[in-house]
Amino acid sequence: MKMMKTLKPILSVSLCVIMLLGLAGCSSSGGTAFTGGKRIIRISHAQSETHPEHLGLLAFKEYIEENLGDKYEVEIYPNEILGSASKAIELTQTGAIDFVVAGTANLETFADVYEIFSMPYLFTSEEAYFATMQDTDYMEQVYASTDEAGFRVLTWYNAGTRNVYATTKIETPDDMKGLKIRVQQSPASISLVQAFGAAASPLSFGEVYTAIQQGVINGAENNELALTNNKHGEVAKYYSYTKHQMIPDMLIGNLKFLEGLSDDELAIFQEAARISTEVEMEYWDEQIEEAKEIAETDMGVEFIDVNIDLFKAKVADLQEEMLEDNENIRDLYDHIQTINESIGTETATTSAEASDTEGGN
Ligand code: GCU
Repeated sequence: MKMMKTLKPILSVSLCVIMLLGLAGCSSSGGTAFTGGKRIIRISHAQSETHPEHLGLLAFKEYIEENLGDKYEVEIYPNEILGSASKAIELTQTGAIDFVVAGTANLETFADVYEIFSMPYLFTSEEAYFATMQDTDYMEQVYASTDEAGFRVLTWYNAGTRNVYATTKIETPDDMKGLKIRVQQSPASISLVQAFGAAASPLSFGEVYTAIQQGVINGAENNELALTNNKHGEVAKYYSYTKHQMIPDMLIGNLKFLEGLSDDELAIFQEAARISTEVEMEYWDEQIEEAKEIAETDMGVEFIDVNIDLFKAKVADLQEEMLEDNENIRDLYDHIQTINESIGTETATTSAEASDTEGGN
């Protein structure tokens, strides 16, 4: 079922920024920039400057510059200013920039093993999700799967649990009938929202606020930071804990750049990446709590505890269908099942329990 999407031309807005950055016309190594004799390393991401990922990347920058500061300077470009995730991945592929942070949904067209993370209710607990992502030896094989496309994942960032939010209250799948819900550009996420009963509208992340505001869509699905950091809580007042996916974000590097580093330098970049994940995860927990508080108190968002089993039932066949369609996800799927089981059946039943405790404010 592989969809080999042709790479689209770079958005004109991104082009302007790229030209401003002096990167225009770059070839596979042409984006390389130096200032004061230092090689400039450019990182693009989609979040604001207060988001945990930005704070994690600042720790990345700090570690690189502390250890290799005579040679490298790191510049971080937030808020999709270099373009949407898929555009920034293209820039990283060609070497116009060096790194990008993007959700795995954006990687599915480059390596179909990443489709696994779009599978509904894949992880039976947050613990199983973390244990999978922190199993570095296993994940290294997955990270190398985009080598042919010219980039490699260096580390992952927690992007929480995805839930549905809308301009109308959703308590059961029936409430989703007739709604248009934005999803990430991934076939599995489209099927998931359709199975829930709504129409799926794949848009880039940066387009969601305006699309809800203008009534082009009725809602979206994401973690709680989308309400506050991306201000979606201003336009969608009902957030329902469907807990349907945990999709990580990835720090992706241009392969030629990574391969051009000496062993010692690469070790420093890898350590910087590891530290950035640690920092990001710490801020994540803190900010999720704050986001719920702000969304509820200041933005008037209502958090709704739903019966997750009703939503799970709607997507019950999707896991099997995905496994049949794509044999490349089987190994990672089995690996995750082992982790799910080892974490225990106690947590396996927690989606409902967890929604009682976490979701119900
Ligand atoms: C989260 C995630 C982003 C992703 C976004 C989306 O915010 O961190 O990487 O782009 O969801 O839904 O597109």
